[in-house]
Amino acid sequence: MLRATANPVDRRGVATGGLPTRTAAERAHRVVEVASLRKAYGTTVAVEDVSFAIDEGEIFGILGPNGAGKTTTVECLSGLRVPDSGTVRVLGLDPQHSRHAVRESVGVQLQEGSMPPKLTVRELLDLFASFYTDPLDAGELLALLGLTAKRDDYYKGLSGGQKQRLSIALALIGDPKVAILDELTTGLDPLARRETWSLIEGVRDRGVTIVLVTHFMDEAERLCDRIALIDSGRVIAIDTPAGLAEREGGGNHMRFHPSRPFDDALLTALPEVDRLEHEGDRIVVSGNGDLLNAVISALATAGTEAKDVQLESATLEDAFIRLTGHPSGNSDEGGER
Ligand SMILES: Nc1ncnc2c1ncn2[C@@H]1O[C@H](COP(=O)(O)OP(=O)(O)OP(=O)(O)O)[C@@H](O)[C@H]1O
Ligand SMILES: [Mg+2]
Repeated sequence: MLRATANPVDRRGVATGGLPTRTAAERAHRVVEVASLRKAYGTTVAVEDVSFAIDEGEIFGILGPNGAGKTTTVECLSGLRVPDSGTVRVLGLDPQHSRHAVRESVGVQLQEGSMPPKLTVRELLDLFASFYTDPLDAGELLALLGLTAKRDDYYKGLSGGQKQRLSIALALIGDPKVAILDELTTGLDPLARRETWSLIEGVRDRGVTIVLVTHFMDEAERLCDRIALIDSGRVIAIDTPAGLAEREGGGNHMRFHPSRPFDDALLTALPEVDRLEHEGDRIVVSGNGDLLNAVISALATAGTEAKDVQLESATLEDAFIRLTGHPSGNSDEGGER
């Protein structure tokens, strides 16, 4: 049992990595609502116009290039920043007017949190636990995050990845209803990333709503139910990861060597085909729907066969690049904006 003051009736740790479950009665539907949010720092407009809504138990991803306004948006959600205009509701509360209630129910992992260097891991967790009426058990949370051996180490002596793990523990210690995680696994080694994903899935399975800012496409594909893609302070798309890849990723691609030459029009006339390119003696056909069968059938009518066939489906990263015009997380460096 993870809870420090556990109620075994409605807080059972079942199949969630030891985390207690929430009853249906404790659940509401719409947990986060952001409408026409705007926030500027002096003359820099960080968030121009952002709107989205998140249902209970969702893992909602926020993706976008560097400087897009993601951190500013989630800081407004958690009450750390005051919006210039627009509406923010978390669990039906305005984070500015109900600071205490929001702080009690919302766990936040900051992108650049720094802690008092001479507090130990355990002291920091105990300190954060003391802010909440009903915190989780610090020892078990440390074990889940692989930090038990570091419990008596000073914060300043932790590696980057260990600090990151601790920041996740600090976001979860209050047993929040909403967890806001800004760059959850940045700096973690590959195994720790996967373990953290499982932990977050366990947290979500208890009905915790998760807002996840990430630059990792694999993380977003694995964890997120829906994603808001933000660019230059505006939401440019909201969909499931698969929906974004399919709708905005530029379709699927099929590469092959034709067994004999054919007229391009044979394939470009097909409704499934959007584009045909020649790569040396290879053909690359891009399109949607059942591209493979449509192309193979059409080639057969001309007595041609497709050899060495390779199929590539559009990915979330394809959608990201097409929609933002930048490789993931690279817009500031590219100077293209
Ligand atoms: N405290 C601040 N003071 C002034 N400008 C800021 C401040 N914080 C952010 N900005 C500016 O606001 C814009 C949005 O920043 P924000 O941190 O919200 O972006 P982000 O999407 O989280 O980027 P990243 O992916 O790099 O974390 C940027 O142009 C940034 O320079
Ligand atoms: Mg950020």
